[in-house]
Amino acid sequence: MRIAHLLLVPTLAVAAGMTIPAYAAEKLTYYCSAQEDWCQLMADGFEEATGIDVRMTRKSSGETLAQLKAEASNPKGDIWWGGTGDPHLQAAEEGLGEAYESPMRGEQNDWAIRQAEAAGNQTIGIYSGALGYGYNEDVLKANNLPVPECWADLLKPEYKGHVQMANPNSSGTAYTTLATIVQLFGEDEGFEFMKGLHKNINQYTKSGSAPIKAAARGENTIGIVFLHDAVAQAASGFPIKSVAPCEGTGYEIGGMTIIKGGRNPESAQKFYDWALSAETQSRALEVNAFQVMSNKNAQSSPLAPDLESIKLIDYDFAKYGSADERKRLLKKWDDEVSVLPQ
Ligand code: F6P
Repeated sequence: MRIAHLLLVPTLAVAAGMTIPAYAAEKLTYYCSAQEDWCQLMADGFEEATGIDVRMTRKSSGETLAQLKAEASNPKGDIWWGGTGDPHLQAAEEGLGEAYESPMRGEQNDWAIRQAEAAGNQTIGIYSGALGYGYNEDVLKANNLPVPECWADLLKPEYKGHVQMANPNSSGTAYTTLATIVQLFGEDEGFEFMKGLHKNINQYTKSGSAPIKAAARGENTIGIVFLHDAVAQAASGFPIKSVAPCEGTGYEIGGMTIIKGGRNPESAQKFYDWALSAETQSRALEVNAFQVMSNKNAQSSPLAPDLESIKLIDYDFAKYGSADERKRLLKKWDDEVSVLPQ
């Protein structure tokens, strides 16, 4: 339908002796950092709802921030949807986002608006979810391992080679893990924890949810991930159990940012408003995306992790989403943890 429309416009224009661009349809270049199937659902849903031609790229949160920075002098993207809030806040601090106040703001939860207010409206919260880990029950049993319940359990020597997490440079999930551990235990003890954990890690993946997908396939035992990503694997029929660590845990507020200097600002605003609607957010359940949505009227699933019953820390988004702190912690992790032998 859209192709026919595109071919028709130039033909008629030429017949009428007019000069118009060969390609006049509205477009949107969309960077996505949530789970692939949800990213795709959003791209297809927006195309269907508006007829706007969407080009999507899915990359992890830290990778997308790096791309925005690399493209800052000649932005190629229009909107960045999904991914943890910390790199969205850093993007705002570095002036990579366009301030926008959507007419949909009134329908959003306070935590989503607070994120916008902290960033001069260059970003906004779109969903929330608690960090923790998941394990494959069958693999755990086959290896005669006890069920872990706390962060501290993950340092025990019997779990050597059984724990996987992502690299905090590329992954927002893993950066949230690093920042959570530092906030829970203090910086010195927190880095000792990360060094101890390193001994048990079998692989640092690029994407945050990869460790629990590997566990679902039986290729890994324990994955440090957002709990909604562990629940999604269980809902798909894999023997995955979720753990909200006994000491307490951090959480994310997933973000959305209109990219400053993008080529299609009107399409970006349309996407932004559409993405904040209850109807759009309720569709997340079609792809087992069990985050808590920012729109107060969006549907939630009984399978979704109940954030009220999890011991959450008072995650300091302003501090850990600031450019200096994020860069400092990542460099320290690179210099002091990732280089250690295992
Ligand atoms: O898989 C979904 C999700 O956990 C989101 O809730 C989160 O914002 C995003 O992935 C983070 O992905 P990554 O760790 O790859 O940056």
